[in-house]
Amino acid sequence: MKPNHTIEAALQRKLEERKEQGLYRSLVCSDGLIDFASNDYLGFARKSILGEGSNNLHGATGSRLISGNSPEAERAEKKIASFHRTQAALIFNSGYLANIGLCSAIAGKNDTFICDELIHVSLLDGIRLSFAGRLKFKHNAIADLEKKLKKAQGNKFVMVESLYSMDGDEAPLKEMVEVCEQHKAHLIVDEAHATGVWGEQGEGLVCQLRLEEKVLARIYTFGKALGLHGAAVTGSETLRNYLINFARPFIYATALPPYTYRQIEAAYHLLPSANRQSLVELISYFIQATQSCHRFTFLKSRSQIQGIIVPGNQQAKALADHLFQKGIYAKAILSPTVPAGQERIRICLHSFNTQTEIDFLIREIENF
Ligand SMILES: Cc1ncc(COP(=O)(O)O)c(C=O)c1O
Repeated sequence: MKPNHTIEAALQRKLEERKEQGLYRSLVCSDGLIDFASNDYLGFARKSILGEGSNNLHGATGSRLISGNSPEAERAEKKIASFHRTQAALIFNSGYLANIGLCSAIAGKNDTFICDELIHVSLLDGIRLSFAGRLKFKHNAIADLEKKLKKAQGNKFVMVESLYSMDGDEAPLKEMVEVCEQHKAHLIVDEAHATGVWGEQGEGLVCQLRLEEKVLARIYTFGKALGLHGAAVTGSETLRNYLINFARPFIYATALPPYTYRQIEAAYHLLPSANRQSLVELISYFIQATQSCHRFTFLKSRSQIQGIIVPGNQQAKALADHLFQKGIYAKAILSPTVPAGQERIRICLHSFNTQTEIDFLIREIENF
């Protein structure tokens, strides 16, 4: 039996109930029909308000379930699903809303979320809205995860990020999958920071480890490596239909404009040829170069997210200010966003940074 078989069956049952009640929601494209449905009250979305040559730069005119669905949206979702080697994808207006929508819809008050202590606030906010219970386990600690799984009740959902946004380290997904299987729990992986960067073509860590079949849902965001806006929840066709019916940020918000879906699809076409190799080389260079810098502790990260621990909010801010004065922009991450004593300068490496820039950064850290 597939790992997520029972929860998929439960979602399908809820969808069947909706159908029996005559309340089932499904997406239609309304292009070419006489419009008595959209919210485009003044017809602004019908013409280009920026003038000639900027056709289609208009808004969606309503939620996906009213007038905001489009062939562009559905094409982008098909592309995303095949790129990340899964059955289906559903686009939300942002990663924040995707996480709120997924978490609040998938669990009820008798269920339990078991979360890594460092997961993103959008997942935590979604969990609150679900009324389900919540248990935290220590960051990336399998033994603690097991302990919490034994305590959990109802349907169990384990929530992790594949690549952590503040520490730059990755979740031990293989071990997590095993533990989840033993405890009949469902794994949900937020791939926000791995999207486009990890995996052979940027498919993320789940695909890189070939765990596609083992994970209930994955979240890919477009606001980071794709340089755009929005996010997709991927998984089975049942999950997609379920979210269309029960995820409130999807149902009750105006959709993204059609040109954004086109940009998203185009960015996915670009990903295989993106310059990941330069980024990989810069990450190695940074790790090497910081080994001789003994003044501060650096995070143990092998990803594009690096960091220097500078204990104390004042001290971290002072270093960020010093760098800023020198023309370097790196953010101080203060407590309580990170635990007190773990304040840091977060350094995001990009394929367009250079070794000279890294040398300059390290020199200025040492001069501080
Ligand atoms: C792990 C993680 N998930 C979700 C989000 C939210 O994504 P978005 O910025 O698209 O709302 C972020 C954004 O910082 C994030 O770091």
